Amino acid sequence: MSATPALFQPLRVGDIALQHRLVMAPMTRLRGDQNGVLSDDAITYYSQRAATPGTLLISEGVFVSPGHGGFPNGPVLHTAEQVAAFKKVVDAVHARKSFLYIQLAGCGRGAMPSILETAPGGPYPVVGASAIPLTGGAIPHALTREEIEEFVKVSAQAALKAVNGAGADGVDVHVGNGYLLHQFLDTNANQRTDEFGGSVENRARFPLQVVDAFVAAVGAKKVGVRVSPYNDYQEVKMDLPNTLETYSYFFSEIKRRHPDIAYFSALEARFTGTDDVEAPKEETLDFLYDLVKPTPFFYGGGFTLETANETAETKSNSAIQVGRPWTSNPDLVERFKQRLSLTNYDRSTFYTPGPVGYIDWPTAQLSEVLVEA
Ligand SMILES: Cc1cc2nc3c(=O)[nH]c(=O)nc-3n(C[C@H](O)[C@H](O)[C@H](O)COP(=O)(O)O)c2cc1C
Repeated sequence: MSATPALFQPLRVGDIALQHRLVMAPMTRLRGDQNGVLSDDAITYYSQRAATPGTLLISEGVFVSPGHGGFPNGPVLHTAEQVAAFKKVVDAVHARKSFLYIQLAGCGRGAMPSILETAPGGPYPVVGASAIPLTGGAIPHALTREEIEEFVKVSAQAALKAVNGAGADGVDVHVGNGYLLHQFLDTNANQRTDEFGGSVENRARFPLQVVDAFVAAVGAKKVGVRVSPYNDYQEVKMDLPNTLETYSYFFSEIKRRHPDIAYFSALEARFTGTDDVEAPKEETLDFLYDLVKPTPFFYGGGFTLETANETAETKSNSAIQVGRPWTSNPDLVERFKQRLSLTNYDRSTFYTPGPVGYIDWPTAQLSEVLVEA
């Protein structure tokens, strides 16, 4: 074994050179204001987590326009003010010699109608692939062809704003967790009979158009794609054969069209929504890893230092995304490097407004001082 474990060896991801393979997973924290502008606390939050030089952070999911939002205080990347708020975050991360990709998304059928009614420029309808609501939710308006085209356009503009406006190192296309693009891939949410529904090629058409538009806007080396093939959050999840077929097609098609894409990212079956779950043994991500290698591949969901080390050692060009533990351990990379214990996360403050449970977690040295005091 080499002296430095694979987890702490550099990895080139598109245009940037990571100094290790721990990547902060995208995590919605709902600390924006009512106009979708990120708070100044976000500057502190991301900067704290970028402390080890050469760290890649993926931002929380950011909506591409107010009409495709749907959560209270969820950030949007559309107006000059929204872009300026993100620029301050990116500058702070760059000052630490680390990197930030901005994850861009459309909410789709899980949006809260009350938020879309009062969003700037609204009211907007809840939308989806088909008029199939979540249990107890609003019946979504099935996007028309023109509206699909409009989403592709507004997404490409958001990607440009992320990279050229806010200075982000790249953009992450959110095709997971039951959000809008995932709704098109999945037969539970998509029962369209036009060229965007039915066959795998048709269901993947819209997500692929968005990926193509991002690449055209900012270049393949600044684009990553995230999926969660086994996640049933927001009432998606197909049977195993359909899942394997759908995601194999989707990733191989991206790779064929954009061989220089920065990375592929996927969530393990053992995580869904905000929780750990039992996962059947056959639900693994290796079929996707094998398809796209040697393009960097980010595994995420329920990793510990031990399992992160194992995966990094056995899967070349992989990185490990860590989510929940990074909320309560701003210096997670150093803690892993030095094998220090972790502070437990607090799910009661995942989504609450304000600094509490967001920017007030101590670093390891400080926690030791606090324990001694
Ligand atoms: C509070 C919270 C918010 C999340 N928000 C997002 C999100 O905006 N986009 C996304 O792709 N995944 C999101 N996820 C999933 C995480 O990126 C990550 O994959 C998940 O937490 C599993 O990794 P972990 O076991 O290391 O926490 C979220 C998870 C949590 C706990």
